Amino acid sequence: MKGIILAGGSGTRLRPLTKVTSKQLLPIYNKPMIYFPLQTLLTAGIKEIMIIVAPDHAGDFLKLLGSGNEFGCKFTYEVQDKPEGLAQAFIIGANFIQDDQVTLILGDNIFEDNFFDAISSFQSGGRIFAKQVPDPERFGVVDFDENKKAISIVEKPEQPKSDYAVTGLYIYDNSVIQKARALQPSPRGELEITDLNNKYLEEGSLDVAFVNGKWLDTGTFESLHEAIEFIRAKELNTTNENN
Ligand code: TTP
Repeated sequence: MKGIILAGGSGTRLRPLTKVTSKQLLPIYNKPMIYFPLQTLLTAGIKEIMIIVAPDHAGDFLKLLGSGNEFGCKFTYEVQDKPEGLAQAFIIGANFIQDDQVTLILGDNIFEDNFFDAISSFQSGGRIFAKQVPDPERFGVVDFDENKKAISIVEKPEQPKSDYAVTGLYIYDNSVIQKARALQPSPRGELEITDLNNKYLEEGSLDVAFVNGKWLDTGTFESLHEAIEFIRAKELNTTNENN
């Protein structure tokens, strides 16, 4: 299983914080944001990780993370010239993925959950993770039938059919490369991961699991602040337990 951290994008909702640096390098209490998705992949047992960055900040990521030695893994870096969508990660990363399966995590997502079992038990198709949220219209939204089987996934719907958001960790088999290459850009000009997930759903090979514990997407001032508070409370708790 290969891992990809998608840490490009433009972070426009966090301007001016992101005017001279990347969103994923901003501090979450005592660590740069990207440390959290990185830790999620490492805890899941993934050792070969590609980091996809925007051209302006590539050097900063290299300086921060280096070869991967310090983290017990190996990093590969790629530049995404323009933020043309999450699903582009599999086109940019095709040579890195080779014939393997791949887990993609968004560089601004913080999970409390441990995905070791979900990744070790993964065989084929796609596996994504849903979480109930108060503001589903900000995300891809998945709705279920009475047996908790996914029916549809819609990107940022005005009238969501459920309050289950698709979170930023996705596990796919190798067909993801071909599926991503066959996508057409959406009206907002992006290769949408929701379109990719719908391909797996149509094939009957998409497993929608649920996230345990907290999930934070840190793309807005409110959610960034919430993430900092959450990590601070966790860190202080750990410090107190150790004293
Ligand atoms: P978003 O939060 O959807 O986009 P953004 O980071 O550009 O922020 P904004 O909407 O405020 O302008 O992206 C989610 C994550 O995916 C984030 O870590 C950035 C990353 N991303 C890319 O690396 N490439 C892309 O083409 C897109 C759309 C996002």
